[in-house]
Amino acid sequence: MKPIQVGLLGIGTVGAGTFNVLQRNQEDIRRRAGRGIEIAMIAARNIERAREVTGGTVEIVADPFAVVNNPEIDIVVELIGGYELPRELVLQAIANGKHVVTANKALLALHGNEIFAAAQEKGVMVAFEAAVAGGVPIIKALREGLTANRIESVAGIINGTTNFILTEMREKGLDFATVLKQAQELGYAEADPTFDIEGVDAAHKLTIMSAIAFGIPVQFDKAYIEGISQLQAADIRYAEQLGYRIKLLGITRRTHTESGEGVELRVHPTLIPAARLIANVEGAMNAVLVQADAVGATLYYGKGAGSEPTASAVIADLVDVTRLLTADPYSRVPHLAFQPNQMTDVAI
Ligand code: HSE
Repeated sequence: MKPIQVGLLGIGTVGAGTFNVLQRNQEDIRRRAGRGIEIAMIAARNIERAREVTGGTVEIVADPFAVVNNPEIDIVVELIGGYELPRELVLQAIANGKHVVTANKALLALHGNEIFAAAQEKGVMVAFEAAVAGGVPIIKALREGLTANRIESVAGIINGTTNFILTEMREKGLDFATVLKQAQELGYAEADPTFDIEGVDAAHKLTIMSAIAFGIPVQFDKAYIEGISQLQAADIRYAEQLGYRIKLLGITRRTHTESGEGVELRVHPTLIPAARLIANVEGAMNAVLVQADAVGATLYYGKGAGSEPTASAVIADLVDVTRLLTADPYSRVPHLAFQPNQMTDVAI
């Protein structure tokens, strides 16, 4: 069967990671998806760099609309970031009957309602595991693993850059600007790092989780947002002396007031007792704590930013869409997707 044809919009940090992991783990991914997944076309601003990453094996174009309008492409992966151009591209891809995978939390936080409605009308998937908490499969957890539950709250460290800054300031006594520069060099920070340090990126992600957890529209404009730019090294030191860590938390939970039930959305620096698990999430790691009625508390932890961790989530979505598109129902049962004759004996 012809491999699923993927069109990549953007080949920056995450795009390059996606290309490399797909190449490296090609065989396993093909087996699990039930069909090969091939990046057939890439739209790139820097064509030279795209050639370097791909070794000249893929068609590279400058115009992203050439990808979304190409009838050969089955799935469009949007990794260019920003709001307006990606909105147009994603809506055009959907109108053309293509499935979409995106890591763009800003896009979904602002235009998600329009995009999801368009996808539903057209009968295509918009998958976005990579948009929240990088490689941590929190979207799948909320949608699938916890689907039996009534979720009460979701709270977590969902911006790697700010957690990295807070950790380095506390552990090494480095100043804010130096650590921010390091985070940029490591590929954690947004193109506009004020989104990270002012809590906007965390609020984008929180808005998306809140919509899934509580079955409500995406409502970014309702979020209370306060970042870490006003924090001083002394705040971090004093917190530590009192037995606390400061973390930038995103919190969304059900509220019950006299006027009825609602949902709260807020991002702000929070004092957490140092002995708590979440207080010990350091560096660019993310952690999300979900309180739900049947299962109780569950905690999801891992790399929230960076090239291959985010690529891991992009490819998980590609595999999901491919499984749905494949005619072989066996491949839709992921835990059975092995070749019995390739199994190795287990040594006991
Ligand atoms: N700038 C984001 C972060 C990247 O630092 O978490 C991952 O979404």
